[in-house]
Amino acid sequence: MSLTPAGISQVVAAAVGAIKNCTSLEELKKIKIEHVGDKSPISKASQSLGSVAADQKAEVGKLVGAAKAEIQKAFDEKFSLLELERDARVLVEERVDVTLPSPRIPIGGLHPLTILTNEISDLFLGLGYKVAEGPELESEWLNFDALNIPADHPARTMQDTFFIEPLESKLVLRTHTSPVQIRTMLENEPPIYVICPGRTYRADELDATHTPVFSQVEGLVVDRGITMADLKGTLDYFARAMFGPDVKTRLRPSFFPFTEPSAEVDFYFNGRWIEWGGCGMVNPKVLEVCGIDTTEFSGFAFGMGLERTLMVRHGITDMHDIVEGDIRFTRSFGSGGR
Ligand code: PHE
Repeated sequence: MSLTPAGISQVVAAAVGAIKNCTSLEELKKIKIEHVGDKSPISKASQSLGSVAADQKAEVGKLVGAAKAEIQKAFDEKFSLLELERDARVLVEERVDVTLPSPRIPIGGLHPLTILTNEISDLFLGLGYKVAEGPELESEWLNFDALNIPADHPARTMQDTFFIEPLESKLVLRTHTSPVQIRTMLENEPPIYVICPGRTYRADELDATHTPVFSQVEGLVVDRGITMADLKGTLDYFARAMFGPDVKTRLRPSFFPFTEPSAEVDFYFNGRWIEWGGCGMVNPKVLEVCGIDTTEFSGFAFGMGLERTLMVRHGITDMHDIVEGDIRFTRSFGSGGR
């Protein structure tokens, strides 16, 4: 190109023309390289000003500067116009329709053991019982001594019980829900009708039928004239609610330090007797520890494993399914990860 007024206006005309006809930002990018950038004719013109004769330098320099500014102005105006257009288009094209239905989000659900606990609680609430709770970290006195379990009883040995350090703390992870019986009797006057569902701990290995963390539900009644017949009737009612109207129960003589007499309760299900839990008449020694007049009041207590109940009721053969929390298992109970 020649650095003449005519040459320069040709360059401007070419650049401004291209910019005017441009309809997209992508196209404008190419035009920028071709007509505005360092390698464009106008930039080259301004770079070659050095070779212009001294007496013409000022004039040509002015011309080139004005030409450059004109091209730049055309470019800038086009650029902001195309940007505005694009923004307006994107607002329409990428609009979010907040009224569209959302994808299904899996919601949590209750674990089958919790469902069972709620069911049992409802059952006994319907009989006029209250639901009592106690801590899982329990004093040795409430877990053992108050229940007439002497210091040399096998249930206290390191094998069965998780003791809490320092040992002087005299705290254990409760090995059964029976300490809640004591708490209830210490805090309330008879008549007492409570169930105490909750988590319990014993130093067992996890296998198909055992778990170191398990659940029990305790029942306790203290009132005037309570007999073994009341216990049997209550257990029958409970068993029918759990396993169906035709289920049979039986009591087998047994021993627990906190009940006298004591029994194991079994139920007959799918052609065999299955051990369900322990029960008996509350040992008068235990009532006395709790300040209850044994000439006026007597009581019964029972305690069963919830995992066992759940396994029999639903034909679950492996304890791992209950403790591992795999939603493929819990889902079949209508809970979790729908
Ligand atoms: N606490 C006993 C156990 O865990 C069960 C039980 C409860 C027995 C109440 C009798 C009365 O083995």
